[in-house]
Amino acid sequence: MSTHPVDHVTRAGKGKPMTLPRLAEMKRNGEPIVMVTAYDHPSAQVAEAAGVDIVLVGDSAAMTVLGYDSTVPVGMDEMLILAAAVRRGIETPLLVGDMPFGSYEGSNELAVENAQRFVKEARCEAVKLERGGPSVDRARAIIRAGIPVMGHVGLTPQTATALGGYKAQGRTAERAAQIAEEALALQAAGCFSIVFEAVPAEVGEVLMEKLEVPVIGIGAGRSTDGQVLVFHDLLGIFGGRPARFVKRYANLREDMVRAVSAYAEDVRERRFPTSEHTYAIDADELAGFRRYLDQESLAGSAWDW
Ligand code: KIV
Repeated sequence: MSTHPVDHVTRAGKGKPMTLPRLAEMKRNGEPIVMVTAYDHPSAQVAEAAGVDIVLVGDSAAMTVLGYDSTVPVGMDEMLILAAAVRRGIETPLLVGDMPFGSYEGSNELAVENAQRFVKEARCEAVKLERGGPSVDRARAIIRAGIPVMGHVGLTPQTATALGGYKAQGRTAERAAQIAEEALALQAAGCFSIVFEAVPAEVGEVLMEKLEVPVIGIGAGRSTDGQVLVFHDLLGIFGGRPARFVKRYANLREDMVRAVSAYAEDVRERRFPTSEHTYAIDADELAGFRRYLDQESLAGSAWDW
């Protein structure tokens, strides 16, 4: 690892730390809100340098960085390690910790306890949880405990199996109405913002007329107050076919494979390291070292430091 922690990226300009009133003001002013996920210190630094408004330590980490096949298995302890690393990399965006499956559904007490862990142990400023129904009560309890909550409706990956898989939601009037009810209940419970995931753009647009809190969309069309994308999706780090709503702004996975392959080939062909990557010793010191090694008494004996 490099021993010189250099800021490789130029800051877009460190603004004031994001606040909930500022997010509400952005909605009122029609200023688009930018949210991105981050899961470690380097990705957090990139989000900070890029000047995003909200950083979510998403439970998508389960798949993007921890190698699980869904978001379901990731636990609180894993999420807290990632969130704390992200915290150390950002100062300006609002930091939201994503409550993993099983960390809040059981009871209000469990939900408050785990939300507090995000705040105390990882210094998150808010938490996010999925779905309406019983989650509305959990959201209310966490808010009463003094922790801001972001809701999440539409495609909720933690319960994707019950929703029929990873597919767009709200494509019938009945299901769209259910999403509307969930969003309005979360708003009434005091959520400061709500994520709409994978709903038809028209449904998103109609719902926007009813919502007073900032809505962040992912696959919910252009009418939401802001957009969120998963860091690894937008940078093309994560393999596999991306969801329809993903726009790739880079193909870093290809770049990384190319770079590591080039390194492997250089090592095998003895092209790396060259003199520019090696350290030198003064000629007299080296001669002294050789004399030391040539001593009779040293032959075959173990080093005696
Ligand atoms: O976990 C996550 O990355 C999310 C976003 C897609 C909103 O919940």
